[in-house]
Amino acid sequence: MSRTFDIGIDDLKAVRTHAGTESASAAGTPNGKSFFIETFGCQMNSHDAEKVAGVFLSRGYRPAQSIAEADVLLYNTCSIREKAAQKVFSRLGAWRGMADGKIIGVIGCLAQQEGEEIFERAPWVSLVCGSASYRKLPELIAELESGGRRVTGLDLDTDETFETEITRRDNPLRAYITIIEGCNYACSYCVVPHTRGPERSRSSDAVLAEAKRLAGAGYTEIQLLGQTVNSYSDPSPRNLAFANLLREVAAIDGIRRVRFTTSHPNDFSREIVEAIDATPVLCDHIHLPVQSGSTRILKAMRRTYTREQYLEKMSWIRAARRPISVTTDVIVGFPGETESDFEQTLALLEEVGYDGVFSFTYSPRPNTDAKSMPDAIPEEEKARRLAVLQDGQRAIQLARNAKLVGSQFEVMVDTHHAARSQWAGRTTQNLIVNFSSPHPSLLGEYVQARITRAAPYSLVGEDVG
Ligand code: 5AD
Ligand code: SF4
Repeated sequence: MSRTFDIGIDDLKAVRTHAGTESASAAGTPNGKSFFIETFGCQMNSHDAEKVAGVFLSRGYRPAQSIAEADVLLYNTCSIREKAAQKVFSRLGAWRGMADGKIIGVIGCLAQQEGEEIFERAPWVSLVCGSASYRKLPELIAELESGGRRVTGLDLDTDETFETEITRRDNPLRAYITIIEGCNYACSYCVVPHTRGPERSRSSDAVLAEAKRLAGAGYTEIQLLGQTVNSYSDPSPRNLAFANLLREVAAIDGIRRVRFTTSHPNDFSREIVEAIDATPVLCDHIHLPVQSGSTRILKAMRRTYTREQYLEKMSWIRAARRPISVTTDVIVGFPGETESDFEQTLALLEEVGYDGVFSFTYSPRPNTDAKSMPDAIPEEEKARRLAVLQDGQRAIQLARNAKLVGSQFEVMVDTHHAARSQWAGRTTQNLIVNFSSPHPSLLGEYVQARITRAAPYSLVGEDVG
């Protein structure tokens, strides 16, 4: 088993009733050993953990039920903000006492960022591997099995993607498919290009074959993943455009919903909106991080677009035939952000009317240009701006959601709150709807819900069939 702490956009708390592999037959001959993966970070990290688990299964390991029981204990790390990075060493400290007889590994973004330094700070760790080297995991595990003490996979310069024969899927209802790894942008605040390496797209054939397998295994919802998912560039001779890949995944028998995240505004094209318009299976939701409403700050962030260019793309989305919900990410307190820059961000949130905003205070990261920029904003001021922004956005969302009272939506049920005898799920717009129903089992079902009440972050409805 693995324990997952999602801090990504899709903080799904699905009841993991029958999580499993797509292809149990690919599991290796049992070797009597077990593994446990603890994951922090974004959706990409969670899905990487599913694939890393697949590598262990195919080598004959079984999932451990607890950390204490595991022979191999892996920590899949995040380093997007300092807090996430700090957590890693305190967690590794907590694992020190049980290091005897176990293999302890650190994988993911902090592994890449800190490299062999991790062995210095936590000598009980014997594997350090960044995501761009996961394809080497079988070799690294073999080295450890034959007594290797310290093994590393820290190459960044790669054009390969991480393909696994099996993936141990933790979410029984929504299946993730990575279509592009790494990032070729160079936002001045961001560690990702340094931790995940350059952009690599998977061939459209491989993506479509995986999606078909998932549909065959009973999944009805697929989420395509990439740090900049819409920068997808098919390396195969078909050279399928991203919008056409969306259409083809959506056309697979049995697939009822297709989502994709995260889109970069610079690569956001009208064709994506046209594909959504033409294909109801493509969900009415786009996550389009803006980061700031000030062109001056966007330039310092090296986001490659202005406020006006972003708003122009928003106008394409707003002109769609179906109402498409839009969510975003915002950073406040970037070096040099004035009160006026911040106000432009607040005004942009009002103008766009997002259905969700993931907002963060700027956190200086190693190897990034913004780290050495002048005019750092004091932490208290960053916190104040964050609170102001979140209060404002809360009111925007409440007003937007209030307009939905009385409407009816199809909800894919993904959660059961047994204590409250309530169910919850998401609409195509990714809005959360809580509702009560006498049905004993609704997980994975698509139900019609009429909205009776609105809150800022969710809706309350009644099951109407
Ligand atoms: N500080 C704060 N937030 C950051 N993000 C990325 N890097 C940083 C940083 N250094 C945010 C961005 C990104 C989201 C995943 O995390 O908003 O879109
Ligand atoms: Fe980071 Fe920018 Fe790449 Fe997103 S587009 S992963 S924010 S560098």
